[in-house]
Amino acid sequence: MIKIVFLLNAVTLVRCVLPRCEPGNYFQGWCKVAVEPKPKCTDVVLGYCDDMSYSKTLFPNLLEHKTREEAELSTEYLLLSVIHSLLNGECNPDIRMLGCSVLAPRCDNGKIIKPCRSSCELVQKSCAHAFEGIDMAWPYFLDCDRFFVSEEEGCYDPLEGLREMQEMVMPSVSPEEPSTAIKFAYHSNTQMFNILKKTAAQCLHISRTYSIGRSVEGEDLLVIEFSSNPGAHELLEPEVRYIGNMHGNEVMGRELLIYLAQYLCSEYLLGNIRIQTLVNTTRIHILPSMNPDGYELASADMQSGSDTDYDEVAQPRANSIGRANAQNIDLNRNFPDLTSIFYNRRRFKRNRSDHIPIPTSYWFGKVAPESYAVMKWMRSIPFVISANLHGGDLVVSYPYDLSKHPLENMFSPTPDEQVFSKLARTYADARATMSNDDMSRCGGTFGDKGGIVNGAKWYSIAGGELRGHNCQFN
Ligand SMILES: *[C@@H]1O[C@H](CO)[C@@H](O)[C@H](O)[C@H]1NC(C)=O
Ligand SMILES: *[C@@H]1O[C@H](CO)[C@@H](O)[C@H](O)[C@H]1NC(C)=O
Ligand SMILES: [Zn+2]
Repeated sequence: MIKIVFLLNAVTLVRCVLPRCEPGNYFQGWCKVAVEPKPKCTDVVLGYCDDMSYSKTLFPNLLEHKTREEAELSTEYLLLSVIHSLLNGECNPDIRMLGCSVLAPRCDNGKIIKPCRSSCELVQKSCAHAFEGIDMAWPYFLDCDRFFVSEEEGCYDPLEGLREMQEMVMPSVSPEEPSTAIKFAYHSNTQMFNILKKTAAQCLHISRTYSIGRSVEGEDLLVIEFSSNPGAHELLEPEVRYIGNMHGNEVMGRELLIYLAQYLCSEYLLGNIRIQTLVNTTRIHILPSMNPDGYELASADMQSGSDTDYDEVAQPRANSIGRANAQNIDLNRNFPDLTSIFYNRRRFKRNRSDHIPIPTSYWFGKVAPESYAVMKWMRSIPFVISANLHGGDLVVSYPYDLSKHPLENMFSPTPDEQVFSKLARTYADARATMSNDDMSRCGGTFGDKGGIVNGAKWYSIAGGELRGHNCQFN
């Protein structure tokens, strides 16, 4: 085998070295015109260009970038990523789509189709004032004469996807509001990983993804981070953590966190001052799925249709398919019960409530890799606040979760009660449905409490839930 490969290489070499073919050489078989592999259209994978009306492109592109990587690292692509904020959202997404038609031009049957000069000229005309406003010249790579062609030469309209989109959403969305276009659909694990990685790539200067470990079935527990300096803790910069989908069948939190990541990225780029300030002054870590295996089970179960008689008012069943991890461990009962230790200590007037070490006995029990990964994560980053998103009721539940009375669910505040209840209150009040006092509304169990509750008062969990662990650990 190896020999044959060598041989072929040698022949190829000879062919390349031959300076030129004389007519006679053809008969000796020397001069078969070297067959270059036919150029093949590839997928448009540039994050900023994923809403173009076509899906195939070809490298080298119109700017002679030979690979996707080269295009991504180019100053032209960088400009596309900041142009909305430069232009204060004006002229967008037109200008970006124009740029994409040069950086990731359309490819049909192995051939690049150039964008239309007329579209370019229209955009240039309508955007002129925005560029004048910031004293910036029209970008050279959007030169309508150089990179764009006329209808006769067979061009396409790079904004055609936009027109379709606008026709679809126009009736309901006011055009002044620069908003983030988000597709609402459930995401498989693979889709979720792709979106997170793509989002981090789009926001390279403020974002990255990293894995805190693997699930039982070997799926990454993938986190996306946002901060002015991704990957580094800066002194006094608050570390914030969001976890979703700890119960694999509770998918709302997972989806919300995927959207949150996309929202933070795109709003930052759009120049949203509030989001920029947030990202510039905090470090936000988002783990949309702590239980990807459970999610797989739950979604397979949904697809097989066995849950069609789901009763909305039913209590969450402890054995609901996909709630637990692949070892059938409920991850929200799998953390060390530090609250009990705190209660015990208090009896002996040793009432320190933070930095309680994990008791050795905990490690004798079954520790799920997912819980372990989260504990390790908490040890490596000094988080100051975190939220876990569950499904089941519409309420902000704050610690403790274990009642101080062993036999009764009762109000059991932490030493930081004022902070926790204020945070819960702020969150709930910002959501009209959550703070609405109508008990008969959907998820209205806590309507009379304004949508917040002390966990232990709701139902005491005898140890092991992440939140209790969390507030005594940090
Ligand atoms: C956030 O930080 C970036 C980079 O330092 C800066 O360009 C931007 O203006 C800042 N935004 C706000 C609102 O402070
Ligand atoms: C510990 O408890 C005692 C008595 O309940 C109280 O006076 C003291 O302030 C507490 N200390 C801390 C640090 O909470
Ligand atoms: Zn849950």
